[in-house]
Amino acid sequence: MSEIKSSQEALIPPVSRREFIATVGVGVASATVLTTGVMEAEPAAETLAHEPTEGSAHHVPISLWVNGTQYEIGVEPRWTLATVLRRELGMTGTKIVCDRGECGACTVIRNDQLIYSCMTLAVDCDRSRIETIEGVALKEKLHPLQQAFIDNDALQCGYCTPGMVMALKHLLDHQPRPALDDVKEACAGNLCRCGTYPNVFKAALEAAQKMR
Ligand code: FES
Ligand code: FES
Repeated sequence: MSEIKSSQEALIPPVSRREFIATVGVGVASATVLTTGVMEAEPAAETLAHEPTEGSAHHVPISLWVNGTQYEIGVEPRWTLATVLRRELGMTGTKIVCDRGECGACTVIRNDQLIYSCMTLAVDCDRSRIETIEGVALKEKLHPLQQAFIDNDALQCGYCTPGMVMALKHLLDHQPRPALDDVKEACAGNLCRCGTYPNVFKAALEAAQKMR
């Protein structure tokens, strides 16, 4: 399924890097989902029920808090969190690239821990708090890390970028004064085929400085 989706995405007209990062940072592709733009300290009052797109007699009901909004959703036990975020909730900012735990493109934060969402079953995330790239921006304003990615030209094709941003945001959330080695370690599980690492490191350090 994910390979088919990747092929479909390849047919979508290209956008500029600035448009891309603004899209993955602020927007959500599906009109079925209303995101808050930032993780909220308290759960939102609203709960959204979601009908699975694929019919099955084996849907298991789960509850997910994604970017501060609660979703009640039925999932098949074999569906990964990445698939549920992208296909069921329309949050396509999270990318599926290798789909086998090697590249980190699908990185999200679950209960304050970085995970590969392509290697995590959605049923195991019942009652979890998930933060995706759609929840990183501060209302209508990009997060300093997203802005630093733009300012430092820290992306080329952009496929690794949402995962990189999530990994580095997790670092900055916990370590406001990271050294270069901390930054390198934080995104060691995120591969960039375009080789943007030096600019990614610069962006993370610059964002850390601006956030202090
Ligand atoms: S898509 Fe999940 S690790 Fe590569
Ligand atoms: S910018 Fe292309 S894979 Fe990282």
